[in-house]
Amino acid sequence: MEWTEDFSVGISEIDDQHKRLFELISTASILEKRCDEQELHDEIVRMLVKLNLYTIYHFETEERIMEANGYSEATQHKREHQAFVNKLEQMHPEADELKSIETLHEIAAFLENWIKNHILRTDFKYKPLMVQRMKDGTFVADPKSEPFVFPDELDELL
Ligand SMILES: [Fe+2]
Repeated sequence: MEWTEDFSVGISEIDDQHKRLFELISTASILEKRCDEQELHDEIVRMLVKLNLYTIYHFETEERIMEANGYSEATQHKREHQAFVNKLEQMHPEADELKSIETLHEIAAFLENWIKNHILRTDFKYKPLMVQRMKDGTFVADPKSEPFVFPDELDELL
């Protein structure tokens, strides 16, 4: 799963975050090559936890940018974000479910589809406004931008 210009929403900060999300989901294809069930399980859970944390960070950035630029469909957009976060949180599967390649494939396919659809159908709705504001010089960047760092505890999580 690779990010290409086709997914660009016109805001470099958001594009960079989307690239990072694509990378996190791509971890799934690396995991496929592992054969030890316990190791596979631990890595899937780790990927999901990372994705959950990073997704929340990313959605907050995007929501602040939508608000700062007076985007009129922000409420509906936020609802989609919340639904995805809820879904991710439900994916904290108990031990046995996460030991198979089949489950990993299902999860990866779901995540990949969701992200791609969300960018192309929902994020793209704010693109014209943002692009116009950039042309006009009225675009407001994320007022609370701060770098994302995964917590150290993540490695000892499992
Ligand atoms: Fe979004």
